[in-house]
Amino acid sequence: MKILIATTNIGKIKEFQEILNKKKIFEIFTLNDLNISVDVEETGNTFEENAEIKATFYSKLSKMPTISEDSGLVIDSLNGEPGIYSARYGGENLNDNDRVELVLKKMTKIHKEERSARFISVICGVGFGSRALFSRGELEGFISSSKQGNKGFGYDPIFSPIGDNATLATKEIDEKNKISHRRKSIEIFLNKLIKDKIV
Ligand code: IMP
Repeated sequence: MKILIATTNIGKIKEFQEILNKKKIFEIFTLNDLNISVDVEETGNTFEENAEIKATFYSKLSKMPTISEDSGLVIDSLNGEPGIYSARYGGENLNDNDRVELVLKKMTKIHKEERSARFISVICGVGFGSRALFSRGELEGFISSSKQGNKGFGYDPIFSPIGDNATLATKEIDEKNKISHRRKSIEIFLNKLIKDKIV
């Protein structure tokens, strides 16, 4: 089955490919492969709403079954920030490293036991049946006091899973993909497709 993974985030695309290529269920296309460069505004108030906005928009454009993902980092001591604003936290002109520095700065006075956080991944699939399909995966952890590692993307250099002192940015992609929020949401999504006899 040919599907579109509707994201331009290279980090996400690599992780989706690493997980899905092993399953040999889909032939994956990206927005780049289809020469689609138009953006859609994420006007939703939840991960679910934003994932559906993206999947609906790009499935109409591509006329292909489309998977989109909205994800982010939820930090308890920052009242859930950056949350759905993770990709644009601090303003559009910051890069990943600037955003990591911003979080560390906001959390300088917060003690280890109050640095709990989680990554959330919500997938929406449109074009796999008559209605949109959703799945959600979460990874519990904490925000480290300094940056560590240079692999991965986004907030990986400051996020350590529970029980692990190393951040996600110290892990190879296949190691991260064994435990990640994205891995969990993809597995749940695939199980729904299998249950509904779509694949
Ligand atoms: P989206 O493209 O609007 O879903 O934005 C997701 C944002 O959340 C990314 O740009 C990252 O800042 C952050 N994020 C999501 N998943 C991860 C991850 O696995 N590692 C690090 N940051 C992530």
